[in-house]
Amino acid sequence: MLVTGGAGYIGSHAAKALRQAGYRTVVYDNLSAGHRAAALGAPLIEGDIRDVDAVRRALRDSGATAVMHFAAWLIVSDSVSDPIGYYRNNVAGTLGTLEAMAAEKVSRLVFSSTCAVYGEPTETPLRETHPTAPINAYGQTKLAIEQALPHYERAYGIRSVRLRYFNAAGADPEGELGEDHAPEIHVIPRAFEAARGGRPLDVFGEDYPTPDGTCLRDYIHVSDLAAAHVLALGRLERDGASATYNVGTERPSSVRQVIEAVERVTGYRVDWRPAPRRAGDPAVLYASAERIRADLGWVPQRAELDTIVADAWRWHSARPMGYGDRRVV
Ligand SMILES: NC(=O)c1ccc[n+]([C@@H]2O[C@H](COP(=O)([O-])OP(=O)(O)OC[C@H]3O[C@@H](n4cnc5c(N)ncnc54)[C@H](O)[C@@H]3O)[C@@H](O)[C@H]2O)c1
Repeated sequence: MLVTGGAGYIGSHAAKALRQAGYRTVVYDNLSAGHRAAALGAPLIEGDIRDVDAVRRALRDSGATAVMHFAAWLIVSDSVSDPIGYYRNNVAGTLGTLEAMAAEKVSRLVFSSTCAVYGEPTETPLRETHPTAPINAYGQTKLAIEQALPHYERAYGIRSVRLRYFNAAGADPEGELGEDHAPEIHVIPRAFEAARGGRPLDVFGEDYPTPDGTCLRDYIHVSDLAAAHVLALGRLERDGASATYNVGTERPSSVRQVIEAVERVTGYRVDWRPAPRRAGDPAVLYASAERIRADLGWVPQRAELDTIVADAWRWHSARPMGYGDRRVV
């Protein structure tokens, strides 16, 4: 398996799950946001997905029969200020990867998509049939690839499973891997930082039409996401048809509930402050995971918010400097 972006947060967990399922993995990552240590000693090729020849070489040298494609940029606000960079990396980079796959006759792809492809929901829970209308460049870059894939399948035989993740959270229950982003924008690690006396946590909007006024999101454990990838690959190996799946717990949690969970788990008070709503933040986003449950038998094993927070906290408290190549919070 060639795992692009496999030195990053979700890709490293998926690569570990693949190895535990008996696959050989080769990570392909330019380490722009990833960490060499997150490859856990498995082969890692330092390279860029925008370099088609280098991806071709990696496919040839590794003998990969499938690609899991995590490599992308994912900060929504940056995508709004830098669409050139985002289209280059997420669209041109992924098309380059597909071009390399077509040239090397590698015909199975699991693609990291996102619930951001839906835009502002007209109904929740979000089903895969909900209209796609992204409200930022990040979501649009992912949708552009989803829409290109059927053409690549028809012409080059590349079958794919597109996984639309909701909010990835938590850490490897065995404590080997975790989240180490700089800057950190995700609410759980940010709440840890605030709980430890660092920057207070901004709560963006307290006047949403939700029970406590803060946004509702679907936090999905990164190990449950990783398991979905292994099942998706199995579908492709059994010659199953291309498919698109939501990956979420179907349980919405508010920002306030996340703060309370962090306080329960860590025993510290989270210093938070009200902040204005962010443009383009829907009030409620959570998944219907009916399709992936029915087709692949995927059931999240660590869906409780306290479990997600506890796994994340175990890693963050054991590795306050993250992987050690930059500060974690
Ligand atoms: N984190 C979430 O909540 C979430 C939600 C929905 C979708 N996703 C998608 O999941 C994937 C992984 O997200 P993550 O949270 O692990 O992010 P991450 O930043 O931790 O990992 C991405 C990895 O890709 C690498 N990368 C980026 N551009 C590259 C390039 N041009 N060439 C080679 N490597 C490159 C980075 O170095 C990094 O290791 C992304 O495609 C993202 O869009 C994430």
